[in-house]
Amino acid sequence: MKVGVFDSGIGGITVLSELRKKFGTAHYVYLGDTAHLPYGTKSPAQIERLSIQCAKKLKKKNIDVLVVACNTASSLALPAIQDVMKTTPVFGVVEPGIHAALNAVQQNGIREKRDSTPLLILATRATVQSHAYGKALHKLFPTQSDSEQASFPIIEQACPLLVPMIEEGWINHPILHLTVSEYVKPHLNLFPTGIALLGCTHYPWIQSVFEKALPNWTVVHSASAVAELLEKSELFSSNNKIRINSNPSQRPTGEIEWIFTDPDSLPAFAKTLIQEGV
Ligand code: DGL
Repeated sequence: MKVGVFDSGIGGITVLSELRKKFGTAHYVYLGDTAHLPYGTKSPAQIERLSIQCAKKLKKKNIDVLVVACNTASSLALPAIQDVMKTTPVFGVVEPGIHAALNAVQQNGIREKRDSTPLLILATRATVQSHAYGKALHKLFPTQSDSEQASFPIIEQACPLLVPMIEEGWINHPILHLTVSEYVKPHLNLFPTGIALLGCTHYPWIQSVFEKALPNWTVVHSASAVAELLEKSELFSSNNKIRINSNPSQRPTGEIEWIFTDPDSLPAFAKTLIQEGV
């Protein structure tokens, strides 16, 4: 079984790493479109065009399934990508993100706290402008009444400066800490607690920075929910070419083919991770 994974850069590695924990014997082809990042500040038409190019490159690799490990591409280009991939199944990261957030809502008993606890979606500008998360929530739970929605405020915050900093390797830089604080400050001032969903696959690299900036909030992301969704899907349950790791502490054995459209731009921490194995 060959799994294609793509992102604008190194963000999708956070998803790849969770996939490998569950599907350790699968063969992966990872494509990071580093020559064209960031996607999140581009127009919907540009994002669609770049995403189609990535899908076409991976299709040539004869993959059995494609994971779009980029929220921006998942929000704006999923139908176009599915068109390119024809019968090859395509999974995005927005729906799993919603599942991760709702899990956190349940675990934290937030329904009882009603309007005092929001779901803050932190994402790229393009993802925020697409309102993909609000739409996906509505699609998954169409019967949710207006009053219930009103009791569970959804706030979207674009964080356009973060992807360039992470790709620069500034994952613990004082400027990054300051920038994250600036993005979350208005929400922290209004709500002492809440659920923050990292709606960009780059942000799990700096989850601890968000946690520090949002004390008393729960910070979640979609990476493990993507792997869980795949595990539950028809494709994986019925296909015996792929074996689910019985022991999660066992190192994955399947190989990874790495493709970066600008390999020289990778930050040192990502290079080390790739060399040592994700
Ligand atoms: N990892 C991508 C995402 O999840 C980042 C997009 C970008 O390059 O701005 O949205």
